[in-house]
Amino acid sequence: MTVLREKGVLVGDWQEVVAAVRREDFLPAVIETPERVVSRAQEPEAWLAAVYEDQSLVTQVNDGRQAAERAGAYRLPTSSSSMPSLMLEMLGLLDVRDRHRVLELGAGTGYHAAWLACRVGGERVTSVEKDPGLAAQAAKNVAAAGFTPQVVCGDGDAGWPLAAPYDRVIATYAVPAVPYAWVEQSVMPGGRIVAPWGGSFFPHSFVTLDVVAGAGGGPVARGRFSGYPAFMRSRNRRPERGYLADFLHHRGEEDESRTRLSPRELCADADALFWVGLGLTDAWYLLVDAADGSGEATLWVLADDRTSWAAVEYAPEQEAYAVGQFGPRRLWDEVEEAHREWGRLGRPGRDRAGLSVTSGGEYVWLDSPARVVRIAPR
Ligand SMILES: C[S@@+](CC[C@H](N)C(=O)[O-])C[C@H]1O[C@@H](n2cnc3c(N)ncnc32)[C@H](O)[C@@H]1O
Repeated sequence: MTVLREKGVLVGDWQEVVAAVRREDFLPAVIETPERVVSRAQEPEAWLAAVYEDQSLVTQVNDGRQAAERAGAYRLPTSSSSMPSLMLEMLGLLDVRDRHRVLELGAGTGYHAAWLACRVGGERVTSVEKDPGLAAQAAKNVAAAGFTPQVVCGDGDAGWPLAAPYDRVIATYAVPAVPYAWVEQSVMPGGRIVAPWGGSFFPHSFVTLDVVAGAGGGPVARGRFSGYPAFMRSRNRRPERGYLADFLHHRGEEDESRTRLSPRELCADADALFWVGLGLTDAWYLLVDAADGSGEATLWVLADDRTSWAAVEYAPEQEAYAVGQFGPRRLWDEVEEAHREWGRLGRPGRDRAGLSVTSGGEYVWLDSPARVVRIAPR
């Protein structure tokens, strides 16, 4: 509470809600902070302190498979209790009012569902979780803490038609495209959808959409981007992750060239990353700083399917940088082309972009829905 108040994020009705719902009632005995694993049994005070920090706490890795325990196995976080200030930021965008019916996608621990239930009443909140074990635990957690949202096991990408329509739909996992089911299950007009959005390269935007009647009378959702969230991806559309070494192969066989686009400048510019990300939905990047303090760095661009990779060597005070590319795709060329396309648009900020979600597909536009810059058909 104190931490959130000091950050100035605890405002309006959410103050009472956060005070009324104890995060410790929703977390398992072993949690992972950004720094380390903490066990309640072994370090009860450290566990409690970690719970009340404003931080995301990982509660499951590798979908709970035991392989995660094998020494050295890659650990992909697959469920967490989100960072409270980020939850409050999302709820600010969602604009929840009294008596609203709310659908949450991604129940996780049930903590956020309990906040919503505390705010509007449990009978108006449905929360969907794909992992059966997590769904059952979240249902237990909310009940034990005295709240009554409906927690169900299902695919959140399909929404939950049984309790529709919803005034508000909120996803706590990231989607590369907004499922039309969420639009169909929203109140029209007046429904609102908030979700972390984006493809592999830049999944770090909130999209806030308002649902209205489209030209043909059917529901359409329209809105804009904000924030810099880092959420887990939908389990349906989650590329396999791993160590950098798992993505690199045929080292020494790459094609070599040079580029004038600074990888460091690119990575420091969220607007550029957003627009480049529209062109690269199935590749991600990693900027690795040299450990010797030289200011040098390597930008890796890695295809989700692991067939192709690119490396760009950054060094300070240079005007051109060495590039290596391997595989059927030339990933750095793709980055440069998407960056040039952004230049042709006049390098707009992300705040000038918008999204329309219709039964036919998803459209990213610049300034107005009439100026479409990317179409993703269904
Ligand atoms: C960041 S966690 C949710 C945090 C949660 N709201 C809380 O308060 O603890 C994201 C959750 O979304 C779930 N998830 C991912 N894809 C899903 C899908 N397609 N349908 C339903 N749940 C999904 C994950 O299993 C994970 O538990």
